[in-house]
Amino acid sequence: MFGNLFTPRYATSSLFPDGMDMHTHILWGVDDGAACLEESLGIIRRLKAMGLKGAYCTPHIMARYPDNTPDFLRRRFDQLLADTREEQFQLRLAAEYMLDNQFHEQLRRYTPLTYDGIHLLVELPQYYLPGAWKDMISSVRDMGYVPVLAHPERYGRLLQQEDFLQLARQEGVKYQGNVGSLKGFYGKSAAALAQTFHTRQLYEWWGTDSHNIAMAKRMPLKN
Ligand SMILES: [Fe+2]
Repeated sequence: MFGNLFTPRYATSSLFPDGMDMHTHILWGVDDGAACLEESLGIIRRLKAMGLKGAYCTPHIMARYPDNTPDFLRRRFDQLLADTREEQFQLRLAAEYMLDNQFHEQLRRYTPLTYDGIHLLVELPQYYLPGAWKDMISSVRDMGYVPVLAHPERYGRLLQQEDFLQLARQEGVKYQGNVGSLKGFYGKSAAALAQTFHTRQLYEWWGTDSHNIAMAKRMPLKN
């Protein structure tokens, strides 16, 4: 019952200087995130209450969701923008690309959804490293984009701390941390890694990676 008293909370403005949540699954009905518009709205309102002024929708683009082409996601996003106009919350569209066997094909066929035309958010599977993952990261660079690896603290089983530093040095990889990791949402080792990376200033950006209202509610953030 006293657990929450001792849970560290972070000032939203310290992790999000420009007030933008860099990783969310607010866009409804396209992946394992928000299931409907009401849920998108519920997440948005929670994020606003924590002092965020906007968020990137970063839906999954991976083999598991074959319909998620940039065009399809853009259409759904335009719908979301129209339906949330009253919220005074800045929504932008990017995507979270899984480094799986359809990644190269995705990049070959479609102009990717990036944060700003340059930075491309990618993720790795949780339990194994795909054989060609380093080539995939290099190919992101070769195409003129900067790879941003989502929640590196969750890959402690797959990679050593030194690997992350090397990726930053050699491949110019940037890192986006999940705020929930700091509170142990993803286990103790992810929490410890997140603290270490935070102290070592490895993170370029933070995100809540909110998939639903309950998750957004549990963020260790204070306005
Ligand atoms: Fe995500």
